[in-house]
Amino acid sequence: MTEFHTVAKVGDIPEGEGRSFAVDGKMVGVFLTGGEYCAIDDTCPHMGASLASGYLEDGAVTCPWHAWRFCVKDGTWLDNPDSRVKTTAFPVRIVGDEIQVQVTASESETSNGSTEESPTDSSEPTA
Ligand code: FES
Repeated sequence: MTEFHTVAKVGDIPEGEGRSFAVDGKMVGVFLTGGEYCAIDDTCPHMGASLASGYLEDGAVTCPWHAWRFCVKDGTWLDNPDSRVKTTAFPVRIVGDEIQVQVTASESETSNGSTEESPTDSSEPTA
């Protein structure tokens, strides 16, 4: 299914922050960065923390558990962009005062299988 689902109203998510919402049985993190709403899979591909509760700066969210960083616009794992590890990004649109997210069934299913790569291979944690 490719429907858009209303998750919140414009103004519900402060600039520079994220919120998590259940959409079609999946947790989605929705962020407001630079005036733009972005949505990614809320479940960190490392060990499952809620990314929406992480620190957001310049379009990058830092996971609250082990500080992996992800681009909230395309889901890239910013600590190791060449890795196949990433989180899924979802289309967002504003209709009236509603923030809507499109979560497809196939994206929901495939985003759970990418946790095999070791987190210590090539990322260098920032002190
Ligand atoms: S759970 Fe997100 S970095 Fe470990």
